[in-house]
Amino acid sequence: MKKPMQENPALNAPPLRLGVNIDHVATLRNARGGDLPDPIRAAHLAAAAGADGITAHLREDRRHIRDRDMERLKEEIDLPLNFEMAATAEMVSICRAVKPHGACLVPENRMERTTEGGLDAAGQANALKSFIDALLEKDIRVSLFLDPEERQLEAALRLGAPVVEIHTGRYHDLVIACDTKGIEAEYNRIVACAKMGTQMGIEMHAGHGLTFQNVQPIAGIAELRELNIGHFLISEALFMGLDNAIREMKQLMQDARTGMLV
Ligand code: PXP
Repeated sequence: MKKPMQENPALNAPPLRLGVNIDHVATLRNARGGDLPDPIRAAHLAAAAGADGITAHLREDRRHIRDRDMERLKEEIDLPLNFEMAATAEMVSICRAVKPHGACLVPENRMERTTEGGLDAAGQANALKSFIDALLEKDIRVSLFLDPEERQLEAALRLGAPVVEIHTGRYHDLVIACDTKGIEAEYNRIVACAKMGTQMGIEMHAGHGLTFQNVQPIAGIAELRELNIGHFLISEALFMGLDNAIREMKQLMQDARTGMLV
């Protein structure tokens, strides 16, 4: 049952884009070797289902997406490509050759299952500067994946990053743990960060661990322009199909913006 929200500050906000991360189609392909399932086929399907962009993470260990996947995404998909990558000379060089619409710099730790925390833009500013400049020079829009902290936003501003993606992984974990106080505190940090970044002139995105259950409060943050969602959509695709999963996610996002909450 959908009900109107009391006061919805997102009502007149610009639409919120959905970037569909297809990494885990490649995870399944690589589990068997060979070519199936094809992550580029998933990207075509995502485009037809209303995705506003495709996101893929070329990890140093190539555990899911491979170099050729990135090239094919750029060649075959008519949507903005968001190239997630570690800030390393190798990745910057590949990204400059592929020339995606955007590059999202994330921390990468070989042992982690997924990107565990935000990039330390404040602590690693000197190391990041030349990589960011090398991407911007090729007209690749740079995004930094950051925890919702003021000092990280300030570092992003100093580094000249036009976009920041707020890491929502902690918010996801708190929802799973049903930690009401923790959820409220983390949510308030995300809202404050989205507002502050926007005031600084940075385009604000968010992502990680978003699901049908937890997406609406995040989608209702008027300052956000894009959400990047992967693991949940690919998981749900097993049961309801990728097309339905993407359409349902977009509807929930749109409802959060236009005033209807489930
Ligand atoms: N945004 C960034 C920067 C990420 O690294 C990831 C995970 O690859 C996501 C969004 C998507 O997270 P999830 O797969 O949990 O939806």
